[in-house]
Amino acid sequence: MRKIETGIEGLDEILFGGIPEKNVVLLSGGPGTGKTIFSQQFLWQGLQKGEPGIYVALEEHPIQVRQNMKQFGWEVKPFEEKGMFILVDAFTAGVGRSKEFEKYIVLDLMDLRDFLDVLRQAIKDINAKRVVIDSVTTLYLNKPTFARSIILQLKRILAGTGCTSLFVSQISIDERGFGGPGVEHGVDGIIRLDLNEIEGELKRSLIIWKMRGTNHSLRRHPFEITNNGVKILKSQ
Ligand SMILES: Nc1ncnc2c1ncn2[C@@H]1O[C@H](COP(=O)(O)OP(=O)(O)O)[C@@H](O)[C@H]1O
Ligand SMILES: [Mg+2]
Repeated sequence: MRKIETGIEGLDEILFGGIPEKNVVLLSGGPGTGKTIFSQQFLWQGLQKGEPGIYVALEEHPIQVRQNMKQFGWEVKPFEEKGMFILVDAFTAGVGRSKEFEKYIVLDLMDLRDFLDVLRQAIKDINAKRVVIDSVTTLYLNKPTFARSIILQLKRILAGTGCTSLFVSQISIDERGFGGPGVEHGVDGIIRLDLNEIEGELKRSLIIWKMRGTNHSLRRHPFEITNNGVKILKSQ
C-alpha cells in the first residue's frame, strides 16, 4: 500500500508513514482547532514534492485564502501559474469581481452537480494528487439528512482519480462526533482536532480515529500552531 506523506511535522510518524494513497479522510474539529491551516499545509507539502493540489474554498474568499497561506510562507500563486495548484472558488458564486480573477468558480452553490462538475474538471486539468474541501459541512448545511449521500457522491468523483483527499468537517464546541449524521461511516479515515481548556489554558491535540489501510497511533497527540503551521509534539 502506497502512502502519501503529509509532510506535517510529526504526523507521518503517528500515521506509520502517511495517509494511504487515495484515502478520503475527514478532518474534523470545532472552530479554531486548526483544520484550515492543517489542510492547507497538506497541500503545500504536496506541491513541494511535485504533487498537484486543489483547495476548494467554501468558507473564505479566495483572495483571503491566498493571503492566509502566504502568511505561513505558502505562496501558491506561482504554482497556480505553473498549473500545479487550483483554488476552486465555491464561496463568491461569481458575485463581485471574482470572475475577473478566478478560473474555477462554482456559480450555483445550491446545485451539487455544478459543484461536482467544477471539481471534476479541476482534478482533470492538473492531474491532481491532493484535494482539500474546506468545508464539506457547508455543502449540507441546509440539508443535514443528505450529508452522507453528498459525501458518497464526492467520493465517487474522487475514486476514479489518483487523489488523496481531506474533507474538512465542522463540529460545534463540545460535540463528541465528527459532524453530520453518518458522514463518518462514508470516509476512509478520520482525524479529529481538539481544543480543550485545561487549567485556564487552551491546549491543542489531535487523535487519529480511523485510517483504512494502515496501523496508526491510537494516542491523543498534543500539537501546536506556529508561523510555520502545524507541528505535532512528542507525547509526554
Ligand atoms: N501564525 C500563527 N501562529 C500561531 N497560531 C496561529 C497562527 N495563525 C493562526 N493561528 C491559530 O490558528 C487558529 C485558526 O486556525 P484555522 O485552521 O483557521 O481553524 P479552523 O479552520 O479549525 O477554524 C487561530 O484561532 C489561531 O489560534
Ligand atoms: Mg477553517
